[in-house]
Amino acid sequence: MKISIVLLTLIIVNLSTASRILFLFPTPSKSHMIIVHALSTALAEKGHHVTVFSPFPLNKKINNHREFESPIRPELKELFRKFTTGEVSKFKMLFMFPKLGVQLAEDMIYTDDFQRILNERFDMIIIGLTANHFLLGFGEHFNCPTAMLSVQRHSSYTNIPVGNPIEINAVNHAFFPSGSLKNFIHRVQNFLAGVFDILMFAGIDYYEKLAYEKIFPSSRHRSYEESKSNISLVLVNDHFSEGNVRPNLPAVVEIRGIQVKEIPDELPQDIQKFLDDANEGAILFSLGTNFQTAFLSDNFVEMLMKVLSKLKQKVIMKWDSEINEKPENVMIKKWLPQDDILAHKNMKLFISHCGLGGIVESKYHGVTILGLPIFGDQEVNCNEIVSEGWSLQLNLKTITENELQNTINELLHNETYSNKVKKFSQLYQDRPMSPKESAIYWIEYVIRHHGAPHMQYFAVHQNFWQRTSLDVLAFLAICVIASFKLLKFVFKTLLGKLFKSKKTISVSKKTK
Ligand SMILES: *[C@@H]1O[C@H](CO)[C@@H](O)[C@H](O)[C@H]1NC(C)=O
Ligand SMILES: *[C@@H]1O[C@H](CO)[C@@H](O)[C@H](O)[C@H]1NC(C)=O
Repeated sequence: MKISIVLLTLIIVNLSTASRILFLFPTPSKSHMIIVHALSTALAEKGHHVTVFSPFPLNKKINNHREFESPIRPELKELFRKFTTGEVSKFKMLFMFPKLGVQLAEDMIYTDDFQRILNERFDMIIIGLTANHFLLGFGEHFNCPTAMLSVQRHSSYTNIPVGNPIEINAVNHAFFPSGSLKNFIHRVQNFLAGVFDILMFAGIDYYEKLAYEKIFPSSRHRSYEESKSNISLVLVNDHFSEGNVRPNLPAVVEIRGIQVKEIPDELPQDIQKFLDDANEGAILFSLGTNFQTAFLSDNFVEMLMKVLSKLKQKVIMKWDSEINEKPENVMIKKWLPQDDILAHKNMKLFISHCGLGGIVESKYHGVTILGLPIFGDQEVNCNEIVSEGWSLQLNLKTITENELQNTINELLHNETYSNKVKKFSQLYQDRPMSPKESAIYWIEYVIRHHGAPHMQYFAVHQNFWQRTSLDVLAFLAICVIASFKLLKFVFKTLLGKLFKSKKTISVSKKTK
């Protein structure tokens, strides 16, 4: 009896604090979903009821965590595949993406699952990725606050809607590694990159507004601008300890590292034993979830195996094709628990394609990286960690045996790199709250305070001229010019009169 009363009160308490949270992430990026799922599962563990729409549901059953697959049209699937292999350039993708992103989100809306949940109640909607702003209209539908989760670093896409300062003069654009604003030319480049962003987002906005007005016609709904300026919270995959120091509003919360488990999961037994036995240290090799090792040339694979076979270290590889002569110190697996492996004490080096996720995990655990970027933002990520001094980079297309061997040796034996990354690792872990805790805290905060309108920055209600004070400057300039003109006029007429009278006096004197 007593126990059931305790249980009952527990359930009631749980009910009163548990919220219903909806994640809308229709853009197809598997690696980005790692961050989304890190947050969604953490919220579910905390007792909230979470619903996630994305093209990549977790194939794991988790309490309180419901997932729906959002579709990707076959032609888009093909396009993304081509982008992954480099057949479609980044530049071209950049131009195609706005329309595609909106299409993907629209396709999600018209699924039966989505139409069904429209009748449910939600306490918060979290959207993210690019070309998804128009989904903010569902905030009005569900009468709940909205938040954004940016799986990328700070960008205009998340900064502009909430009025977070862009500070183009001192905050480097994501295109450039941090600390690159020391000379004038870099500042010019940074400025141009900032302008490029603004134009690109204006382009995306055009398609988003069309979609918004189709789904939420202005006769019955808030305007697109109103929905967009009413975002309660922005969670950003960034952290100042990495060198991107910038001013942030209270509603902009940095959560970089959220996918890293503070306590690693147990490794599969064979991997655990393999790593435990690596007395000389271990190396992890992975070119990411999207890349298929079958695309690598035979020559490259042969050369790679030759170099690895000469190492004293054990090497564990994410590899999805066959290897003819696998060296003895190498273990291959189709899938690896990367994060848990990087947490192993014998880990010495990570040979990686430089996806954002892997970099964060490596940094968190203090493991140096040899970067082999393939496409997308990997090149930028790689440049950045090389300039931070704990990584080296090689070109996958031109790499030679000597280069690979020397670079691996340098990273293993020159302590400059490992000392640097260990320092980062310490700073990373020294925070008042873990990234997970702070993301959950602020989400609950916003729900508790009904959207937390008191956190909203007034700038969201201002236009470009007002935000930059250019209207005030123009007004003051007009005032100054007008007063000068007035003064000039007054002096002229006054002096003119004086002069005239003097003149007449002198004239009259002369004529005397
Ligand atoms: C802004 O969002 C809050 C909920 O977070 C809502 O109550 C309010 O009506 C919204 N205002 C506008 C103008 O959209
Ligand atoms: C170790 O690496 C640093 C940074 O690249 C370099 O300056 C230094 O000369 C290297 N030390 C040795 C012993 O090679």
